[in-house]
Amino acid sequence: MTATPTARWLRRPAGTPVQLGYGADYNPEQWPREVWKEDVRLMQEAGVTIVSLAIFSWARLQPAEDRWEFGWLDEVMDLLHDAGIAVDLATATASPPPWLTARHPEILPVTARGETVWPGARQHWRPTSPVFRTYALRLVEAIATRYAEHPALAAWHVNNELGCHNVYDYSEDAARAFRVWLRARYGSLEALNQAWATSFWSQVYGDWAEILPPRLAATHPNPTQQLDFTRFSSDALLDHLRAEREVLRRLTPDVPVTTNFMVMGTTKGMDYAGWAGDVDFVSNDHYVTPGPQSLDELSFSANLTSAIAGGRPWFLMEHSTSAVNWQPVNQAKRPGEMARDSLLHVAHGADAVCFFQWRQSAGGAEKYHSAMLPHAGPDSEVFRAVTALGATLRDLAPVTGSVRQPARAAILFDWQSWWAAELDSHPTDRLRYRQEALDWYSAFLALGVRADLATTGTELSGYDVVVAPVLHLVPQALADRLTAYVDGGGHLVTTYFSGIVDENDHAWLGGYPGALRDLLGLRIEEFAPLPDGVSVQLDDGSRGTLWSDRITVTSPDVDVLARLAEGESAGLPAVTRRRAPGGGSAAYVSTRLGPDGLTPLLDRLLAAAGVASELPPAARGRVELTVRTDGSRVFWFLVNRTDAPVVLPLSPARVLAGLSDGEGRITLAPRGVAVVQYPPDEAPGDRERAAAGPRPL
Ligand code: GAL
Repeated sequence: MTATPTARWLRRPAGTPVQLGYGADYNPEQWPREVWKEDVRLMQEAGVTIVSLAIFSWARLQPAEDRWEFGWLDEVMDLLHDAGIAVDLATATASPPPWLTARHPEILPVTARGETVWPGARQHWRPTSPVFRTYALRLVEAIATRYAEHPALAAWHVNNELGCHNVYDYSEDAARAFRVWLRARYGSLEALNQAWATSFWSQVYGDWAEILPPRLAATHPNPTQQLDFTRFSSDALLDHLRAEREVLRRLTPDVPVTTNFMVMGTTKGMDYAGWAGDVDFVSNDHYVTPGPQSLDELSFSANLTSAIAGGRPWFLMEHSTSAVNWQPVNQAKRPGEMARDSLLHVAHGADAVCFFQWRQSAGGAEKYHSAMLPHAGPDSEVFRAVTALGATLRDLAPVTGSVRQPARAAILFDWQSWWAAELDSHPTDRLRYRQEALDWYSAFLALGVRADLATTGTELSGYDVVVAPVLHLVPQALADRLTAYVDGGGHLVTTYFSGIVDENDHAWLGGYPGALRDLLGLRIEEFAPLPDGVSVQLDDGSRGTLWSDRITVTSPDVDVLARLAEGESAGLPAVTRRRAPGGGSAAYVSTRLGPDGLTPLLDRLLAAAGVASELPPAARGRVELTVRTDGSRVFWFLVNRTDAPVVLPLSPARVLAGLSDGEGRITLAPRGVAVVQYPPDEAPGDRERAAAGPRPL
């Protein structure tokens, strides 16, 4: 279940203006002291309000086990405070210094193949190492004690991107901690043997000490062991977060604690929905994944972060002003992209916009990574754009603290299904859980219909439509919830490989889609995955790849929305929808249609549920709309997804950002963003909503 964050925001002195945060990671230890004053002056010029400090400073703060050097940090904290800049102060535990790893090499992670992960980069520590934990907490204690009362201290930043490089560790420490975790989960070896189906391949355990992490094996390791190790690895990092947080809460109970999540295309190992309740506010880092869906993916990640934050404001801790340094080819952002990307996060609930990093490094592995202040210095396009964005964020002060106004549709995203659906030894190794969810999201964007990302902890009953792509792992309780949702009038849409296994990754028996068979009113005896290059033609004109099913309809209430149109399976159902007695429905899509194929299908399904776009027709697909509200005002964020101007016939009460001609039209520049404010119940979408009713399929 998603635990929502405790909703404490930055600690700031009374009288501090309420505004969106703006800033970056600040690494002054990379620069001589003379530079610090210039940094702070330019930060003020750019409108910076907050920086994250000391993230990788362990070696500078504690140069030897018994030596502490806080003088330089005192100076930086004071400089920032004098300039009115708040500090999100790191606990500095992300990268253990050489003296520590030299003395205690047993803190270094071990790969599944038994290789040591050596120092030389960062995050070379075992989440389960008691030795590392002791040294890390000593550092946290020292920092928290020293800066508890510092007026610049606004929040604690635990470690950095927990699990970015060290989520999976197969060491002896990990083995010991895994056994403890398993005992707590299963209670007895009998229960574990049952859950792991160890009768298969003679894997029955007779003693806890025999159990190992899924290290390099002769062939497919036990899938439930793998799934549990993934769960355990996420929990081990969460345990570290809690340990640091407990020290911070003890010493500074009034300072909120956060840590930067990585809800983005490249990160899978951490169940952030399950972590959210352990921070005072959610923070996220996001870097654009280049490709045709890059902007959709940014929006998807921001939206999912909002779901994890329970719809409340969250903190964008890192993104990039321009190029990164870790992709095969690192492309610079085009004019307007930085501001649009930043504001799209705000559109989805970010109340702070920060970058990695303030000043571009001259040395080290990230010297080609962009920053707010690039190598070229302040006389640069990047710095001018950074300063302009600072001014825009000041104009947007009224949206601070507003929450997401729920959409009528949601996409359910579940880490358990993600992890389980992509295990090895499956019908296909080509399935990508997040990609399927993103494709549905792209279809919503193409139609101009808002959809919230939701987690299994989100209350679904308020949504007219819930799309649950590849909901592979469905415990009985989740099946019951979805059934109740449909019985209550909700419209559920799910896809291939859904409802297949329970929480132990055991197949539900009696035919697929197992746990959802009755709800969907169909039965499948065998999967029919498609090899690369092979696709299936549907009679609605779309083509499917990756997967197909031989569906038998088992309920008279099932309508077939599309059939297979070619080959031996021609005529078999490919897309179905069961009408439920309470007016709800349960639809099933048996193949991968991709954004182009999903868009017309989703249009039909939404129309049947009475869900329509709130945007003027000409803007649909070209503009993304998100809505935030503080109860007395409604804020529409209109984001131009194209490289051409878009004119919208909308009469705003007040334009906070973007261009209005004063005659009922708003012009969005290429890649531009407008933010408009309405009194409640007067936003155009509210009128559309009142007028819309269900249309027949
Ligand atoms: C993040 C990390 C930062 C920096 C950045 C570069 O993963 O937290 O320290 O490395 O990536 O994109």
